[in-house]
Amino acid sequence: MRILMISLTLLLLSACLGEQTDHSATPIKIKFAHVVAESTPKGIGAKLFQQRVEKRLAGKVVVEVYPNSQLYDDNKVMEALLLGDVQLAAPSLAKFGKYTKKLQVFDLPFLFDNLEAVNRFQTGPMGQKLLSSMTQSGYLGLAYWHNGMKQLSANQPLRVPANAKGLKFRIQQSHVLQAQFEMLGASPQKLAFAEVYNALQTGVVDGQENTWSNIESKKFYEVQAHFSQSNHGVLDYLVVTNAAFWKRLPDDIRTELEQILAEVGLEVNRLAQELAMVSRQSVMDFAQETGKTEVLTLSQAELAQWRKAMQPVWKQFESEIGQEVIEAAIAANE
Ligand code: LMR
Repeated sequence: MRILMISLTLLLLSACLGEQTDHSATPIKIKFAHVVAESTPKGIGAKLFQQRVEKRLAGKVVVEVYPNSQLYDDNKVMEALLLGDVQLAAPSLAKFGKYTKKLQVFDLPFLFDNLEAVNRFQTGPMGQKLLSSMTQSGYLGLAYWHNGMKQLSANQPLRVPANAKGLKFRIQQSHVLQAQFEMLGASPQKLAFAEVYNALQTGVVDGQENTWSNIESKKFYEVQAHFSQSNHGVLDYLVVTNAAFWKRLPDDIRTELEQILAEVGLEVNRLAQELAMVSRQSVMDFAQETGKTEVLTLSQAELAQWRKAMQPVWKQFESEIGQEVIEAAIAANE
């Protein structure tokens, strides 16, 4: 009887071990959810990541990409990451205010002269340090991806800050962006990206700010009569994961995934500027062909007025963000 019990226990044990071995042969699934079109820098980056993982980690990791808010909007996706319902996301840097105040630096208006300056800051020591500014909330930043500089639009021409007064603007989830529009005497409204087109079309809001690639791919030009080339701020992304999930990955797989992300990041960042110009041209072509919208070029004097009107936001958020973070960003401009 004793012998029978022992052999039964051994049998059960080996069955369990066998099951474990089988289980470990199952590829690790990485769901990557985002909110933009597949033709944008983030959309292309997510696909590239999927393709390279398929090639280099075949049978070990499978990536599924869900674009266009198919799975979650950017607020829900952060909860989904913690719940393990998705493993990767790349929300705009404007959407992390709940988890760290430091990343708000990216929303400060007229802080970065251009995307090259943003790049220098992100790849420099301060930018790299900020990648792990949310570990206490369970998130780990893996990479920065560019989208581009933001442009303003509304249902009336925006040449100078006074033109924005009294208008309702859709903004991302960001206290800094809220303050930026309040400084103009405008009324900011936080809405998910998926709701913007409708909100513009139905007059829930009068205007918005976004990059050329988002404006073009989501056809905001159909529902906005005036665009201003303001380049007043940046909209970039943080590729983010659940810190515990990432730590639990086998070392060799984690290293390879990080290598792939770094390579894809370089390509996304190289492409972003190019795509911004192509998208801007499409909006300009639409404007010329239909006369339904216009793209204004602002003079240096007009831009200086916008800068002067918005820049007090820096002081307002300096203590939250940290003076050293802002100074490092300013230094990236030269
Ligand atoms: C937005 O909400 O306007 C953007 O953050 C969308 C995006 O991911 O580019």
